[in-house]
Amino acid sequence: MLLKIYSITIILLDVFVLLAKCFYATFEGLYYLIFPPAEKSVAGEVVLITGTGHGIGRELAIQFAELGATVVCVDINSEGNDETIQMIKDKGLNRVYPYDCDVSNEEDVQDVVELITKEVGPVTVLVNNAGIMPCRHFMDYKPEEIQKIFQVNVFAHFWLLREILPSMIKNNYGHIVALSSMAGVIGLRNLVPYCSSKFAVRGMMEALAEELREECIGTDINFTCIFPYMVNTGLCKKPRVRFPGMLAMVSPKTAAKLIIQAVRRNTMAISIPNWYLVVHDIVR
Ligand SMILES: NC(=O)c1ccc[n+]([C@@H]2O[C@H](COP(=O)([O-])OP(=O)(O)OC[C@H]3O[C@@H](n4cnc5c(N)ncnc54)[C@H](O)[C@@H]3O)[C@@H](O)[C@H]2O)c1
Ligand SMILES: *[C@@H]1O[C@H](CO)[C@@H](O)[C@H](O)[C@H]1NC(C)=O
Repeated sequence: MLLKIYSITIILLDVFVLLAKCFYATFEGLYYLIFPPAEKSVAGEVVLITGTGHGIGRELAIQFAELGATVVCVDINSEGNDETIQMIKDKGLNRVYPYDCDVSNEEDVQDVVELITKEVGPVTVLVNNAGIMPCRHFMDYKPEEIQKIFQVNVFAHFWLLREILPSMIKNNYGHIVALSSMAGVIGLRNLVPYCSSKFAVRGMMEALAEELREECIGTDINFTCIFPYMVNTGLCKKPRVRFPGMLAMVSPKTAAKLIIQAVRRNTMAISIPNWYLVVHDIVR
């Protein structure tokens, strides 16, 4: 009898604490919506970005360089990557370094990170951006193509994290950024392997952040996961939209600006456009 009363009291107490925490989180959220947190400086950070030869990665490289960061540009396409470097140097910014690497290859990643650490220094901000998006019916994908999608979109994140996270943990300082997609939140037709890979990125980021948090290691390492919808980079070939006004494609420039803003505010997750994830969370 006494035991029963005791358990019920504990449960009620837990529910009460949970509700109080929910209230607090809601108000904190609303507060930050109105008064966004100050943006931290990225000047002097060593920012490694993958997929800088084109699109969002290129814009991220340019804008991080403009904010005074040292930018390490990693891409498999050295021609595109050199163009990015030139665009940044043309602005009179010289702390920018190109590296040729297939990020889906574990050994290549090990070698390139070793070289980067020696030539530039330890990476303090890692942006896993490189990704591919073939688009066809489920049965029309070849098995090798499905494997490639996972190698570039998912495994590459692991290979880079395995090389870079230890030094961040040692210094208890750093920021991990990953490009997922709204296709990592909702399933879309003709994109089954891509969606699966972007769901995986979302899970990986959430689980890794949780692991570090619960074990109190790397308490000053922040995580930001980005969920863009459509960015006009040529990655999405012929999007069909019913309400173009509401879902207007954003330019890579705007996308990069919003990504950097989220990083500087230490935000854990944002969609582009921003309200997308909010509506999704409420609906769910
Ligand atoms: N464009 C969009 O609408 C959109 C929407 C949601 C999410 N995203 C995600 O944003 C990220 C960037 O997309 P984007 O549109 O800028 O792509 P993009 O195709 O314009 O550029 C991708 C870059 O990654 C590089 N890359 C590809 N495979 C590589 C590999 N194995 N090793 C090294 N580099 C490699 C390419 O050479 C290219 O320079 C991707 O992860 C993508 O899935 C894009
Ligand atoms: C990580 O985020 C927390 C909370 O916003 C902040 O206090 C800390 O300085 C951040 N660390 C880094 C390396 O940005």
